[in-house]
Amino acid sequence: MSISSSSSAFLAPPHISSRQEYVRLQAKSIGVCRCIARPEEEKTVVYCKGYQTKVSRNANLSKLQAGYLFPEVCICHVARKKAAHLLKYPDAHVISLGIGDTTEPIPEVITSAMAKRTYGLSTLEGYSGYGPGQGEMPLRAAIASTFYRDLGIEEDDIFVSDGAKCDISRLQVVFGSNVTMAIQDPSYPAYVDSSVIMGQTGKFQKDVERKNGSIIVFDSAYAMYMSDDNPRSIFEIVGAKEVAIETASFSKYAGFTGVRLGWTVVPKELLFSDGFPVARDFNRIVCTCFNGASNISQAGGFACLSPEGLQAMHQVVSFYKENTDIIVKTFTSLGFNVYGGKNAPYVWVHFPGQSSWDVFGEILEKTHVVTTPGSGFGPGGEGFIRVSAFGHRGNILEACKRFKQLYN
Ligand SMILES: Cc1ncc(COP(=O)(O)O)c(C=O)c1O
Repeated sequence: MSISSSSSAFLAPPHISSRQEYVRLQAKSIGVCRCIARPEEEKTVVYCKGYQTKVSRNANLSKLQAGYLFPEVCICHVARKKAAHLLKYPDAHVISLGIGDTTEPIPEVITSAMAKRTYGLSTLEGYSGYGPGQGEMPLRAAIASTFYRDLGIEEDDIFVSDGAKCDISRLQVVFGSNVTMAIQDPSYPAYVDSSVIMGQTGKFQKDVERKNGSIIVFDSAYAMYMSDDNPRSIFEIVGAKEVAIETASFSKYAGFTGVRLGWTVVPKELLFSDGFPVARDFNRIVCTCFNGASNISQAGGFACLSPEGLQAMHQVVSFYKENTDIIVKTFTSLGFNVYGGKNAPYVWVHFPGQSSWDVFGEILEKTHVVTTPGSGFGPGGEGFIRVSAFGHRGNILEACKRFKQLYN
């Protein structure tokens, strides 16, 4: 498959001056799994005493609870362990490098645009109510020209959202429960859980052929973090518009995890087996389940894509990438095999033969640093811990000092 590199040049790190015109994708054997869930327990469990309605619980949600694979459970469990640790050591300086939440302030060029839009809402001229569910056209156009220039993606292919996670679920509603969903392992939890909630559970299925006419959902939430020459957008690959959807986010580029803004590209060329455009169904779901991203967030997103905003986003990304380098160097110097950290601000550290939860527990107990057990992202993550590079520099340095004390 050939990949054109003409696009999204701004996403390339500054030190890469030129990228190959065409790159051949190497066929990699990746771990792919279909969602599986433990069979539900036969017996009726009563969770709470008191008045019970006659409405039965969505069986798919109870599968989530029963399943040991399902990572959202892991994230809650990490939070519980952290809370218990804080009770045990109330004076400890606990450093959180677990969940990937941004820590650095949003650049002023972006917040000032949001403030202006906010104050405008107090004026007759500046007030706006519901906007288009698909997003404001100037923002859709700016996203298309910034991230997909020369890739044939147009503004009406872009659906602005309140973040990638929300769109992942909306996509599941589009596809319904009668599809087979293949998910990489380890995986971002939302993909696994939303598949289970939709009822896309069944027998493990190993072979997922590319030739079988599947639709690929490509997550480019970390495209700006990429350091190598892989495509930043799936639409750099010739022919991708007929087989792929891309979901993306401002969360990790501009500190928008709380502001909430993302987008999904559903090209008009992407068709279901009966020839119906996927974008028309996605549009229907967006209009039914969503009333558009906040107008204030959209003003911020638009500011992100101005020349000053782009520069500011690159600075934010560079800061976290420096953090990533510090973590990678620390664990490498301690003799660990380290993965990731090159194209995303997460570092996976290998502890062969050990349980991820045991390692997580030991690190928390002895260093007061919260990481995430790799197994929480799927069975393929067992034996690893994931360390997030989102943190203030002082905290990253302090955490690394403690890792050195523990493992030296
Ligand atoms: C791979 C991946 N996709 C999507 C998201 C969700 O991003 P958002 O904040 O836009 O919902 C995240 C958040 O951590 C992520 O890691």
